[in-house]
Amino acid sequence: MTTTGVRIWGYGAAVPARRVTNEELSRRVETTDEWIQERTGIRERRVLGQGESLALLAAQAGEQALAHTGLTPNDVDLILLATSTPDDLFGSAPQVQALLGATRALAFDLTAACSGFAFALVTAAQFVQAGTYQNVLVIGADVLTRWVDWGDRRTCILFGDGAGAVVVSASPVNHWLGWDGGTNGQDGHLLELAYRGEHYGPVDMNGREVYRFAVTTVPEVLAKALHRAGLTIPDVDWWILHQANQRILDAVAQRLGIPPAQTVSHMGDYGNTSAASIPLALAEIASQGQLQSGQTVAIAGFGAGLSWGAAIFRWG
Ligand code: COA
Repeated sequence: MTTTGVRIWGYGAAVPARRVTNEELSRRVETTDEWIQERTGIRERRVLGQGESLALLAAQAGEQALAHTGLTPNDVDLILLATSTPDDLFGSAPQVQALLGATRALAFDLTAACSGFAFALVTAAQFVQAGTYQNVLVIGADVLTRWVDWGDRRTCILFGDGAGAVVVSASPVNHWLGWDGGTNGQDGHLLELAYRGEHYGPVDMNGREVYRFAVTTVPEVLAKALHRAGLTIPDVDWWILHQANQRILDAVAQRLGIPPAQTVSHMGDYGNTSAASIPLALAEIASQGQLQSGQTVAIAGFGAGLSWGAAIFRWG
């Protein structure tokens, strides 16, 4: 079967204005800036304020990504919004479509927590490879600060809000190299935002077990995706892993033998932004001119589900 080539280009990022530092949190729960930084690498996070919403952040990131490609909202065939924290449980993607004025586009949410962006990117690539769509806007956006218990020091220190986006388009030259992913619903109880009788939430997590899961599964899924791409570790220019925790990133880098300078880390400023963290980190190095067209990127998302996914592609 012949397939269409895929390119990934255009980047966008949006975060709420309000910063919440570790010091501010230490006035709410029994914790310290030192404890949080040492265990997680997080210094501060952005928190959604009045007049802001998941859909607004997502649309802002999406608009920027389109602007970088020169495509117009009318060129977009599909909007995939990876989020687990929509403004509306029926889905926020239609609202994003309306805000962007992308009236031709089919738009729907894809829910997979911190793996959401990786799964949405894979889904977009499949639609393009199959020749179904030319241009897919992939947005990862989450506002988990709406759903944490601000009295639970084990979880409230970790999360922040944000949105990031890229564009996946049909191309004569294929830049989509390989991917792999998995799900383990048996251990889903380790990280949940579940319906509890009268309402959802709050976020509930077994931190130690999730940590253990991440440091074993992420190196494996990256190795499998690389194998499928026919590449080895030195072939990759940038490693953009879900920004859950600096200790997880360090452990993964050490296991795979990745040079620290090639891993992107921004959780110090944003915390864990769930589905937004990979495209936010990508937008950061792209906007600084560090990520160059033609470079090879490896991404990996992991988290609630439990779920995990990795993809390898050439940028631009
Ligand atoms: N400040 C101070 N002390 C805290 C604290 C905080 N914010 N949170 C927990 N503690 C305490 C605990 O109460 C416990 O005290 P105790 O021994 O008196 O009971 C102690 O610190 C150790 O708790 P533990 O949960 O074992 O800590 P840890 O070393 O595992 O670190 C995490 C906690 C959450 C930082 C760590 O488990 C982690 O990063 N897990 C992965 C989480 C993650 O990334 N989830 C998202 C995946 S997408």
